[in-house]
Amino acid sequence: MPNRRLFVTTALPYANGPFHIGHIMEYIQADIWVRFQRMQGNAVHFVGADDAHGAPIMLKAEKDGVTPEALIAGILATRPKYLEGFHLSFDHWHSTHSPENVALSTDIYRQLKAADLIYVKPVEQFFDPAKQMFLADRYIQGECPNCHAKDQYADACEQCSQVNAPTDLINPRSTLSGTTPVRKTSDHYFFKLSDPKCVAFLNEWIGAPGRLQSAVANKANEWLTGKGDRDLGDWDISRDAPYFGIPMPDAPGKYFYVWLDAPIGYLASLKNYFDTGKARKNGETRSFEEFLTSSDVEQIHFIGKDIIYFHTLFWPAMLKFAGRKVPDHVYVHGFITVSGTKMSKSRGTGISPLRYLEIGMNPEWLRYYIAAKLNSNVEDIDFNPEDFIARVNSDLVGKYVNIASRMAPFVARFFGNCMPALPSMNEDSGLAAVAKHSEAIRAAFEDREFGRAIRLTMEVADVVNAEVDRYKPWILAKDAATNPQSKDRLAAICASTLATFKALTLFLKPILPALTAEAEAYLRCAPLQWSDLELPVRPDRFLPAGHEFGTFKPLITRVDPKQLDALFDTIKPDANGEAPAHTAEKPAEKPAAKTTISETSTATPTEITVDDFAKLDIRVAKILSAETVEGADKLLKLTVDIGDSQRTVFAGIRSAYEPDRLIGRLTVVLANLKPRKMRFGLSEGMVLAAGPGGSDIFLLSPDTGAVPGMKVK
Ligand code: 2FM
Ligand code: ZN
Repeated sequence: MPNRRLFVTTALPYANGPFHIGHIMEYIQADIWVRFQRMQGNAVHFVGADDAHGAPIMLKAEKDGVTPEALIAGILATRPKYLEGFHLSFDHWHSTHSPENVALSTDIYRQLKAADLIYVKPVEQFFDPAKQMFLADRYIQGECPNCHAKDQYADACEQCSQVNAPTDLINPRSTLSGTTPVRKTSDHYFFKLSDPKCVAFLNEWIGAPGRLQSAVANKANEWLTGKGDRDLGDWDISRDAPYFGIPMPDAPGKYFYVWLDAPIGYLASLKNYFDTGKARKNGETRSFEEFLTSSDVEQIHFIGKDIIYFHTLFWPAMLKFAGRKVPDHVYVHGFITVSGTKMSKSRGTGISPLRYLEIGMNPEWLRYYIAAKLNSNVEDIDFNPEDFIARVNSDLVGKYVNIASRMAPFVARFFGNCMPALPSMNEDSGLAAVAKHSEAIRAAFEDREFGRAIRLTMEVADVVNAEVDRYKPWILAKDAATNPQSKDRLAAICASTLATFKALTLFLKPILPALTAEAEAYLRCAPLQWSDLELPVRPDRFLPAGHEFGTFKPLITRVDPKQLDALFDTIKPDANGEAPAHTAEKPAEKPAAKTTISETSTATPTEITVDDFAKLDIRVAKILSAETVEGADKLLKLTVDIGDSQRTVFAGIRSAYEPDRLIGRLTVVLANLKPRKMRFGLSEGMVLAAGPGGSDIFLLSPDTGAVPGMKVK
């Protein structure tokens, strides 16, 4: 019998675009926790779905010339390659555009109405006469009434920061049709969140010990008590046709606002999972309704910090007053930045998860890296390429995988590929470290402190690697065939390391499901469960003497820094190390031959005016230093003096120039090129060169007499 029954979800992604790295991070976080719970013997039902409704999806479909149904079906079909690709073990994936969601949303709405929490109020809004639709604020632009900046959206003006209502804007314009919107009134349906019974319930729900992270509870409390950055207003839950959503019962032409039916989609996906027999296959014999209303089921939502308001106020209140069970926990994470740059939720800039997979990067590297960065706080985490390479190569490969690859050959050669007897444990042994840390590692996983779980696991790996260094098995192996003492010591270190390797495999299993499955195959053990590790460790049970191992195969490769270049750029850096950012989801392209501005080209260049040319700040520059760049065999890192300052420029000229030959010479640099962040650092300009490439690259030089900083005109 499982101890706990868990219904776990991640936030439902909009069905108008592919997954971006932020989605994948959230799924990895939830997946690690889910896999850990399964290893504890708990029953988990882990479901997701697409969030398929709303005006942006309707408008995107219109723009693409397809129906919204076709648009969302197309997106839905792309999901498995990501979910499987990153080993995300959802038990089910569904859509909010589904009969289950229509039935549940309609039912919940009716209950809220019966609880006297729905009312109707006329609302005046901008209406686009050309498109015949009401306009959400994001589709209106106009002049700021304060500073008169043009093309400002409602909300904070980009120029003067004044917060403007759409109706405050001068000469408002619909961004959809370009026409001037008119004011029009229509009836809207509201959910009365401010009702004292809602407030009293939420107060109690938010305050329940351990339900929310303390920062999240504080934020929700501020909103609830009107001290936060937004008021606890009643919630407008209806939208007028045309809208892609669920029609409201008894209200012709009205649809549920997407955010009403989105969280209900969690339940709709679960219902479909039950109705299609998958829950039963996963050991749950009760019906959907029985399961959902059971007090022994814990309902847990993993979400990002931008949607706390919906999940800690509306969602629990909706469930409560529809007579349903309320969520037990909402676990909130921060955003992921890439090299310190904030990514936009809609554009998902930075790293394309699909490209990551397509160029053959190992999904478990990313799982490991993200896990190493995650804790239970609502903190942003940063993907830093150098750090990524270091963590994966030195921790995962250097410390964990290395143990087995170093020791397996000795076991095969000297002990018939069988486990030797373990020596008695001393406090410096790997297994002693396992015993010391295993409870803290378990607790860290439970608390979503994955970074701590990895740190402690690597401490165990350090102990066992130090043990190997003390025993020096490679020296023992030299005479183990003839010297019984050497053979005994070799047996002792093989046994200790392999038992510890098994424990490390168990610790890493929630994070690295594929790699640890390979390790289990080598260890010839049943899928590891947390209970396999009894405390105190019983070596005779954990890995008994005489147990035969499988054939050892290399478990994982190291990250090649070149793969990071390929991840960030679709084409190789040009002579100046510049590479255009790739478009998300564009499949890996063949590297373009060369794209320097000096490229010999048969195409007639587009004509430019003198004014265009004047925009270029081309200057004489002196090369102060030139160095090779580790991991980039085409580049040189140059420091150049451009008169008023020094700049760092990465130039793809290594095939033609020895760095030493360059120091002190004059050349010509484009100084006002937008700085470009590269894996090795910031490139702040472009050195001008001619030639087809390879050894035929020719740096430009000014005539004698020119000095650094002189403008080329
Ligand atoms: O913010 C978003 O991306 C929403 N699609 C999340 C919805 S979560 C849940 F409520 F469905
Ligand atoms: Zn302004």
